[in-house]
Amino acid sequence: MAKDVLKYLREREYISGEVLSRKLGISRVAVWKQIQKLKDMGYRIISDQNLGYCLVSRPDLLLPQEIQRGLSTTYIGKKIFYFPELESTNIMAKEKALHRAEGIDEGTLIITEKQSAGKGRLGRKWFSPTGGIWLSIILYPQLPPSYIPRITLMTAVAVVKAIKICTQIEPQIKWPNDILISEKKVCGILTEMSAELDMINWVVVGIGINANIEHQDFPEDIQENTISLKEVSGKEVLRVKLAKTFLQEFEKYYEKLKKKEFPSILKEWKLYSHTLGRKIRVDMGERIITGEAVNINEEGALILKKEDGKLIEIISGTIV
Ligand code: BTN
Repeated sequence: MAKDVLKYLREREYISGEVLSRKLGISRVAVWKQIQKLKDMGYRIISDQNLGYCLVSRPDLLLPQEIQRGLSTTYIGKKIFYFPELESTNIMAKEKALHRAEGIDEGTLIITEKQSAGKGRLGRKWFSPTGGIWLSIILYPQLPPSYIPRITLMTAVAVVKAIKICTQIEPQIKWPNDILISEKKVCGILTEMSAELDMINWVVVGIGINANIEHQDFPEDIQENTISLKEVSGKEVLRVKLAKTFLQEFEKYYEKLKKKEFPSILKEWKLYSHTLGRKIRVDMGERIITGEAVNINEEGALILKKEDGKLIEIISGTIV
């Protein structure tokens, strides 16, 4: 109901309680209650005895009604679960993904202002205070499990594009999926899935963007290698706009991927690459390999030229 009140408040400068109650078929007291609810969410609404209510400003919260306003996607973000605080959006998304039959459709989004136990890759913690964008998308791609690295690379391109559109900053991608600005991490992607041998059951793509976080607020051990968009642009970024733009870009690239158009996505990935052409060390769990990153193949694997000149294909690992 608060959402409906908001819709009318947005339509005109002032709207009276009486008109609202008539349009919504509720009492004026009920209208007043909904106005209070919106105020509690952070909407600034003033009231004038003669003219009625007027919406003055919106909160920069990642509220579903804000994200969905003008969102041009067909299915990504059409259903949003919003939480002011959550343990981890990936954990919640994985639970929800099991309930596909109960309306947890492809593109369902879990989003929060703050995570108490944000998950990073390789079992690491992910620092997720207020001011960032912490979200997970549920997908049910009819693709073989070998497509997972491609989904991750495609997500990285969508993040770069969204940041570029909203801030004019052009980040780079460190294989497979760290988004960097000035060599420092501004966003991480955590892809988790459940699959059979030849079929994916569900995929959860978790994205964490350090949007409006002060540098001194990052934990000391990551301060040196971490950056926020606010730090770079010198002003707060509009998180709702960035989240919305990202969802639109994500759907665009995901559609391309489903149509087997990964080569064109890869071309863009390479344009933003921080990795190709560099001498790197890759931690593969049981060993570390050194070499030159010469290419990314059509499956999203990194091709490394070892010191002995031999080429090796790396599907998963971390550049150290
Ligand atoms: C990385 O280690 O680089 C991946 C970090 C991924 C963090 C995001 S924040 C939203 C989603 N929920 C989580 O718990 N993790 C991912």
